[in-house]
Amino acid sequence: MFVGELSLNDIVQKVEELPALPNITHKVLKLTSDPKTTIPELSEVITKDQVLTAKVLRMANSAYYGYARRIYSINEAVVILGFGTIRSLVLAASVYNVMDKEFQGYFLPKGDLWKHSMSTALTARSLARRTGYELPDQAFIAGLLHDIGKTVLNTYMTSAFLSVINKVNEEKIPFMEAERQILGFDHAVVGARVAEKWNLPEILVEAIAKHHSPREAINNPKLTSIVHVADAASMSMGIGLGGDGLLYPFDGFATDRLNLTENMIEETIAEIADSLMDAETLLEN
Ligand SMILES: [Fe+2]
Ligand SMILES: [Fe+2]
Repeated sequence: MFVGELSLNDIVQKVEELPALPNITHKVLKLTSDPKTTIPELSEVITKDQVLTAKVLRMANSAYYGYARRIYSINEAVVILGFGTIRSLVLAASVYNVMDKEFQGYFLPKGDLWKHSMSTALTARSLARRTGYELPDQAFIAGLLHDIGKTVLNTYMTSAFLSVINKVNEEKIPFMEAERQILGFDHAVVGARVAEKWNLPEILVEAIAKHHSPREAINNPKLTSIVHVADAASMSMGIGLGGDGLLYPFDGFATDRLNLTENMIEETIAEIADSLMDAETLLEN
């Protein structure tokens, strides 16, 4: 009953309604990608926002980043963690409010999309390091945002709930395939539009668009493969399984592309599981 009811225009409209990234986030993204930016310049911009400052320091001091001594100021955080990590922490702090909700249409209780996104981000970062991908912080961001399209499509999925489930059960097709057939769009395509709206680089847009089909990535199949494996690893840990976990089709292209052995994936999962509890509660008030 939903086929054809949703047009691309409806979706574009929905994406437009999505809260823009805060100005300060755009500023940080810009500054951290400019090699001429100085440490005091970047610190000054972040410190102006007390809430953001507190969140960044909390993450910087979390078990995942695990530095031997406490980081007390943004200036120290920038020096110790570097521009790339600061960039991903600021982005995580900025999307937390958008993601930490209930997404009924995807069977995700409150908090589950955030946990799933954070665990995918952390896993992607670790996989990037293990496989020699030069920009682990970029992998973190791609993992963090891969399912952002769900925040836009949730309303439609909530009304299509029964049709989607019936389709999955009767036709034994993956959840995303049912989503696409019933809505005409899937959360990967819509997520890519969100990333475009936020002016994120093209390779991040692609990694989000193709996170369920890494073999279709043209610009950066390696990054897209990292996100695909990280997503599947998060699912296997049972984190934020939701509807997307139903008949999740894993694409072996990704593990081949990354030369990943099962052992390496298991090691990564073990490493992440340890720090995850901490990551889950990181930004709660
Ligand atoms: Fe997904
Ligand atoms: Fe996912």
